[in-house]
Formats: sequence, structure tokens, C-alpha cells
Amino acid sequence: MKKGIFIVLEGPDRSGKSTQAALLKTWLEELGHEVLVTREPGGTYLSEKIRKILLDPKSNIEPMTELFLYETSRIKHTLEKIMPALKAGKVIISDRYTLSTTAYQGYGRGLPLTTVETLNRIATMDLKPDVTIVFDIPDKVFAQRELTRPGRDRIEREPDSFRRRVNRAYKLLARRPGITRIDAGRPVETIQKDIRARVSKLLKK
Ligand SMILES: Nc1ncnc2c1ncn2[C@@H]1O[C@H](COP(=O)(O)OP(=O)(O)O)[C@@H](O)[C@H]1O
Ligand SMILES: [Mg+2]
Repeated sequence: MKKGIFIVLEGPDRSGKSTQAALLKTWLEELGHEVLVTREPGGTYLSEKIRKILLDPKSNIEPMTELFLYETSRIKHTLEKIMPALKAGKVIISDRYTLSTTAYQGYGRGLPLTTVETLNRIATMDLKPDVTIVFDIPDKVFAQRELTRPGRDRIEREPDSFRRRVNRAYKLLARRPGITRIDAGRPVETIQKDIRARVSKLLKK
């Protein structure tokens, strides 16, 4: 069924994912590809509603509930948006996907990784990205970006210890086989050059 290309950008908040997604989209469109930029949680009517619940500071959500909400949002996103776009031959750029759940709900909240990864598989119906690019951001750079952090949602309001666990998790996950690690502490253009080089390989296939 698959004709398109599925690219996932991963990494902590404020590591530069959205910035790079926009630049990648422009370049791919110049090359003549049809591009869909999407995000998690979100991407469909129902998934965006779940996103609101998840990010609302007034929501009181325990870790397992949080996990299921993310996965529910993911099922709809995968079925309604990603799979049809792939079938239509588009290039999909998703700002976050399953690795975020492993980092935040697994390493961050401390839920068993086997549970998280089983649900990831179920929610994606085993669809795998063609590439997952993890933005690895040096602690020093991260601390500077934290200072300019805008309006804080429920996840951003978590204590520093939570964010540190998530950042450490991404550093670990970036070394998994099949993952592309990007040093996200460099200038925007340099990072974009590396991402384009990686994506070029997929386009040639
Ligand atoms: N390579 C970079 N160097 C310096 N600042 C950056 C870089 N990439 C992004 N930024 C800035 O950092 C902030 C977070 O970037 P953003 O793309 O929104 O991250 P994310 O989508 O991962 O949360 C923004 O203010 C953005 O302009
Ligand atoms: Mg973003």
C-alpha cells in the first residue's frame, strides 16, 4: 500500500523540530513533492481534541491514563491522516510520533517500557517511519532555550527533574539502531543541511 515517505522528527521541547520541519517542507516542495506536515498529539479533529485535554494545565491525568490518551490520539492520526497520505505518495513530516511516548511516558513518567512499546505498536498498526530523526540538544543550549520558554502547557509545567529525564532518554534513544541522531545545538542552517542529506537518501530509493 505504501508509496510515500514517512519522516518523523523527535526530541525534547524547544529542540528545533518545528523550525526544521518548515524548512524541510519548503525544500521538498521545491523538488516537486507533495508534503504533509503534521504533529502529535494532534493531526485530526479528534486527535486535536485529545491534545487539548493532554496539554490543559487543569487536567488531572495519571500516567497510565496519559499513555492511553496519547495512543488513542495516535490511532486516529495514523489511520486518518498518515496512512492515506502515504498511499497518495506524499512525503509526511510528523513533529513527534511513537518515540515521544517512549521518552515521556516511559522514561519520564516511569511506565514500563514494554507496556509503552506494545501500545505504540498497536496504535500504529505496525506502521514504521522511513526515518526517525532525534534532535539531541546539549544541556547548556537547552538551559538557554528554557529561559525563553513561552506559555507553559501541562507538560511544560512539569518540574525540571521530569524534563531532565526526558532529555536523557532522548540521548539514549538517539543511539538505537535505525535512528538518525542530529546534533541540534548548531545553527539552524547546518542542522537543515544534515537533515536534507539524510532525506535525500530516502528520495533516491
Ligand atoms: N538551531 C537553532 N539555534 C538556535 N535557536 C533555535 C534553533 N532551532 C530553533 N531555535 C529556536 O528555539 C526555539 C524552539 O524551536 P522550535 O522549532 O519551536 O522547537 P520545537 O518544535 O522542537 O519545540 C524557537 O524560538 C526557535 O526559533
Ligand atoms: Mg514544535
